[in-house]
Amino acid sequence: MSSIPCSGRAGALLGWYASHARDLPWRHTQDPYPIWVSEIMLQQTQVATVLPRFAAWFETFPDIATLAQAELDSVLKAWEGLGYYRRARFIHSAAQTIVERHGSVFPCDFDALLSLPGIGRSTAGAIASFCFGMNTPVLDGNVKRVLRRWQAEPEASDKRLWQLAQEAIDASGEPDTWNQAMMELGAMLCIPAAPACQLCPMQQHCASAFEVNIASEKKAAVRVRDVHWQVHLHVDKAQGIWLMQRPDTGIWAGLWTPPISELAVAPGTSPCHIHQLTHRRLHLYMDVSGNPPSGDGQWVADIGKFALPTGIHQLLAKRGITT
Ligand code: ADE
Repeated sequence: MSSIPCSGRAGALLGWYASHARDLPWRHTQDPYPIWVSEIMLQQTQVATVLPRFAAWFETFPDIATLAQAELDSVLKAWEGLGYYRRARFIHSAAQTIVERHGSVFPCDFDALLSLPGIGRSTAGAIASFCFGMNTPVLDGNVKRVLRRWQAEPEASDKRLWQLAQEAIDASGEPDTWNQAMMELGAMLCIPAAPACQLCPMQQHCASAFEVNIASEKKAAVRVRDVHWQVHLHVDKAQGIWLMQRPDTGIWAGLWTPPISELAVAPGTSPCHIHQLTHRRLHLYMDVSGNPPSGDGQWVADIGKFALPTGIHQLLAKRGITT
């Protein structure tokens, strides 16, 4: 299998990036702490959602040691609205590892980076290139699509894509900017449904230019299961709302919600709210209870102090309960 010759490819992409890149705050630093936080936030969340949260993060956790010492609850609270809360647990536990094993200094060794919770090969590649100038490629969903199109190999395996990504970054001479530029191209021009080939600096270097076969790129659909949850709302004028903390594993792990019971079958009524997760569609039914609450939990007068899932905020907002 041959690779596309590199002549002019790096220059074309880096030149385009120099004049077209978005001005994003994590692109102004080589400090591993903010770069790490940005990369974890960006793993599954859009740039526009991340921007304000990224800025706010450092007001609460100005350095790794502060993050490591914080209560998990406050980390979950700072993550509220970003979704995929497992990342908040990983970031907290990785901070503790950095303090304990690396004397609070972010490791610059690639394998040490990879061994931290929440950091896979692509995120480690981003951090190692942006902070330490290493020739370590990023291979996220956007970069995979770009490489597959350049090669006109819509079904290229991950193994093949890592090889192509490595060759490309090795030839670039600027691994940090190269990784940023690949992600930028994938996010801004080489987008899934309607690639902007007419604006693309890589026309001459892309085997799919102007003829991307979208149909051949279709990914296997994610299997989504419907679940039906009764949300038991206890509201007391004086004391507030009764919340309990969800278990450490499963959906919304560690977040605060009113008591929830799973219904074996869908009730005849329509749900108050439907919240979509990657693998689950949560149908939420509200049960406003006149009885005093029982079991674990506590009265909460100010829900703004607790980390609640977005789906529960939306449900409560329908009853006029907001922060
Ligand atoms: N997605 C993941 N990493 C990113 C970065 N550094 N800039 C923009 N989007 C990204």
